[in-house]
Amino acid sequence: MINSASSLVGVRFIGSGSAVPDRVLTNHDLAQMVDTTDEWIASRTGIRERHIADGDADSVANLAAKAGQKAIAAAGLAPADIDLIILSTSTSDDLFGTAGRVQKILGAERAVAFDLVAACSGFVFGMVTASQYIRTGLYRNVLLIGADVLSRWVDWQDRRTCILFGDGAGALVLQADPAQDHLLGFEMRSDGKGNDLLNINYSGRSTFEPISMNGQEVYRFAVRRVPEVIEKSLNIANLTVSDVDWLILHQANQRIIDAVVNRFGIDPAKAVSNMGKYGNTSAASIPIALDEWVKAEKIAPNHIVAIAGFGAGLSWGSAVFRWG
Ligand code: COA
Repeated sequence: MINSASSLVGVRFIGSGSAVPDRVLTNHDLAQMVDTTDEWIASRTGIRERHIADGDADSVANLAAKAGQKAIAAAGLAPADIDLIILSTSTSDDLFGTAGRVQKILGAERAVAFDLVAACSGFVFGMVTASQYIRTGLYRNVLLIGADVLSRWVDWQDRRTCILFGDGAGALVLQADPAQDHLLGFEMRSDGKGNDLLNINYSGRSTFEPISMNGQEVYRFAVRRVPEVIEKSLNIANLTVSDVDWLILHQANQRIIDAVVNRFGIDPAKAVSNMGKYGNTSAASIPIALDEWVKAEKIAPNHIVAIAGFGAGLSWGSAVFRWG
């Protein structure tokens, strides 16, 4: 397996972007809809508000294209430079795939485009997939987008799940570099035995059931498996936790981040957290956080960033890379 800096063509991470709907739903708003409180939600999850899609203007395709446009511009490229678009989403506008719509909106006419479904691990799995196409020499510029509109699939009467999720998109441009490889290590895992812990199941009536989730089991899974997979990708990169400048976990729950931070003894200031403003945006959460920290110039060129996604499947994965 090519999973180190030893391949022929390296991967660089050269531009990020993100987009969220304008509409904000606070915990106080939710308390008008279901039997909950701001205090309960904030203390159990760290979430205070989330952005919620407003009809077609905030479709997966539109949010993804907005984030993608910004990432392409930040990379100093034009849409025509993009060879491959990977859209990681579990909430496609079209069961046949949404990536083609994104390609059309962007005008990225040379690109081949496809969807990748891996729930909240989608951005990590997409990064690994994109890198394989680059490392084998097939594509030079890849646009990776994580975008989800989970609000469409939330049961807004179910206080155990509706408090958790938000909508948004984040994007990253990866570029081939014959001289340097900034993808330092990665690891992806699946365990179908836990598949029934988190689902949006086909209902049998040309639609899907709302999200169903066993919250406690998903919490236990994340706290157990995420550190393992981060350690594995750090080992592959020949790095230790102390080399990591920024840890970006999937933004599902502040308690999960805190547990991982404690487990590694890492400085909490290095653990990126913005879920208070966005909730769990699934495949979009890591790239939205990455973009926010890049724009704030906290993440700087050559910083070591470790990311980890986890969620339905069950699936989980981590990647360690050097920014820029
Ligand atoms: N407001 C108020 N009370 C609520 C509530 C809400 N929004 N949601 C659940 N409760 C109640 C429950 O009904 C239960 O009451 P009971 O004891 O009278 O039956 C009590 O709070 C405890 O419920 P429980 O499900 O045990 O809470 P928890 O401490 O496990 O917290 C989660 C629930 C969902 C916050 C937590 O399990 C979690 O974060 N899990 C991970 C979920 C996740 O990240 N999923 C996405 C992964 S990609």
